[in-house]
Amino acid sequence: MPLTALNDTAAYRALQHHHAAAKNWHMRDLFAANPQRFDAFSLEAAGLLFDYSKNRITSDSVALLLNLARERGVEAQRDAMFRGEKINSTEHRAVLHTALRAPPKSPGAPALLLDGQDVGHDVHAVLDQMKDFVDRVRDGRWLGYTGLPITDIVNLGIGGSHLGPQMVCTALRSFLHPRLHMHFVSNVDGHDLQEALHGLNPATTLFIVASKTFTTRETMMNAQSARNWFLQQGTVPDLARHFVAVSTNKEAVSAFGIDTDNMFPFWDWVGGRYSVWSAIGLPIALAVGFDHFSDFLAGAHAMDTHFRDTPLERNMPVIQALIGIWNRNFFNSESLSIAPYHQDLRHFTAYLQQLEMESNGKRITKDGEVVSVVTCPFIWGEVGTNGQHAFFQLLHQGSDITPIDFIAVLRPTHALPGHQAILLANCFAQSEAFMRGKQPDEARTELQAQGISDAELKALLPHKTFTGNRPSNTIAMEAMTPATLGALIALYEHKTFVQGVIWNVNSFDQWGVEFGKVLAKNIESELLTGARPADHDASTNALIARARKALAAGPAIP
Ligand code: F6P
Repeated sequence: MPLTALNDTAAYRALQHHHAAAKNWHMRDLFAANPQRFDAFSLEAAGLLFDYSKNRITSDSVALLLNLARERGVEAQRDAMFRGEKINSTEHRAVLHTALRAPPKSPGAPALLLDGQDVGHDVHAVLDQMKDFVDRVRDGRWLGYTGLPITDIVNLGIGGSHLGPQMVCTALRSFLHPRLHMHFVSNVDGHDLQEALHGLNPATTLFIVASKTFTTRETMMNAQSARNWFLQQGTVPDLARHFVAVSTNKEAVSAFGIDTDNMFPFWDWVGGRYSVWSAIGLPIALAVGFDHFSDFLAGAHAMDTHFRDTPLERNMPVIQALIGIWNRNFFNSESLSIAPYHQDLRHFTAYLQQLEMESNGKRITKDGEVVSVVTCPFIWGEVGTNGQHAFFQLLHQGSDITPIDFIAVLRPTHALPGHQAILLANCFAQSEAFMRGKQPDEARTELQAQGISDAELKALLPHKTFTGNRPSNTIAMEAMTPATLGALIALYEHKTFVQGVIWNVNSFDQWGVEFGKVLAKNIESELLTGARPADHDASTNALIARARKALAAGPAIP
C-alpha cells in the first residue's frame, strides 16, 4: 500500500500550521525566554555532544517533528534495516553496513542470517584476513619484489571506494605509521595518477585496487596505468606483492591479473557510500593499525546502538534529521553548509556530499510517485576558520538563509600554544553571531561610540546590521580519535537514513550515477574509434569533433 504523500499527512500539516507562527520567532527571544535552552536542546551519545539549541524551534516544534517521524514509520524502518530486510527496493538488496561494525556475537546469541548466510561470520572472517595482511605490511614482513618493506600505499578507487578511506586517513593523521605514506587516486584524469606516482619507487609501493564492482571505468583505467608503471621495473610474477584488490567481484579481480589470495571481499549488501567499514577500509587499517581500525568500527557501533535503542526524543540521528527536515521543508533552506573546525577533517564535507546527496538526491518515492515536497539539500562547506574568510559573508548577510553544522574538536593533537583557543573561539563566535545577529540599535550604539557624523552613521547603519536568526547545530567531541570519528560518520549515516524514510525515497540506489556512466561509455568509443558520432545534439557533436582533433594531436606537455 503506497505511503500517503508527505504533505498530506496529519503530522506534516500540523507542522505547516506551527511554522506559520514559528517563522516570526527570533532565536534571541527564545534564548532569553528559556535560560535552560541548551539543556533542553542538546544530547550526548557515543562521545559526541549535539547542540541543536540554535535552531528556530521550541519544545512544541520538536514534539510535532517527532510525530512526523512516528507517522512515517521511522522506528519500524530502522528495525527492518538492522534485521537485514531488503529495504533497497530497486536493487532488491539488504542494507547492512551496521553489521560490518558489530562485534562478534556472544555464544548462544542468534546469528544475523541473510539468504541463509551468517553475515557476522563472514564479516569477521574478512576482518581476520585484513588484520593478518595489515600486521605483515606494517611490521615489515610483507616485502616488495626486491626484498624491501612497503613505504607507500596507493589506493585506486572512486566514490565510496575512495572518499571514506581518504577522509579517515586524513582525519586520523596523528595515528599514522611512520614508514607508510598514503596516496589516493580517484580521478580518471591522468594528472591525478601522474602526481601520485611522482617520486615513488615501484619496489616499495603497494597498490590497492578498490572497487565494489571492479568494472568502474575510472578505477580500472587507473589500475591498468599503475600496472604498466610497475611493469617498467617489475615483472608480471612480482605483481602479486604489489597489487591487492578489494571487491565483491572475484572473477573480474582474477581477470585483471590480481591473485585472488590477495583479494579482500565484501558483499552486495554494502552500499558504495557505506563501504568504509568493510574491506574498503583496508588503507585505514594499514595507515593507523588494526587496533585503531577496530576502535573506529567500535565508535560507529556505539552510535548504531544508540540509534537502535534510544527513544526518538533523545535519539541523536533522529533529532538531527528532524532539524534538517524543519529547515529544508518548512524554512525552505536549499543547502546545508558543513564547517568542521579541524584541519584534518578537510575531506569530511566531500564525504558527506556523497553520503547525503547520492542517498537522498531523489525526487521519486519508493512507490514510484513524485515526492510531494523538496528533498535533500545541497551539501557544501569548508574547514573553519578558512571558510570564514571566503563565503561566510554570504552566510551572515546574504539573502538566503543556510543552516550550518559546526563541528568542534575540543582538544588538538598538536602542542602548538595559542592556536586551539583561537580556533574554538571562532567556531563558537560564528554560531553565536548567526543566532543573535546585530540589531539596528546595537549597531547604532557601536557607531556612535566611534564618534562619526550623523550622516555617515545613517549611511552605514544598514550595512552594519545583521538579522541573525540563522540556524546552526554544533557537534563537539573531546578529541579526534578513531572511535569519535566512527561515531561522527555513523551519526550522519543514520541522519541520512531517517530523512530518506520521511521523504519515502530509496536512500540506497544511485540510478542517476549509472545513467552518466552509460552515456560516457558511448562517447568514449566515438572519440577513440573515429566512428561517426551517434544520435547526439549539435552541441555534443561539435564538442566530440573538437576533442577528436585534440586527441589526434596528442598531449600538450610543456
Ligand atoms: O558513484 C556511484 C558509485 O556506484 C558509488 O556508489 C560507488 O561508491 C562508486 O560508484 C564506485 O563504485 P565501485 O566501488 O564499484 O568502483
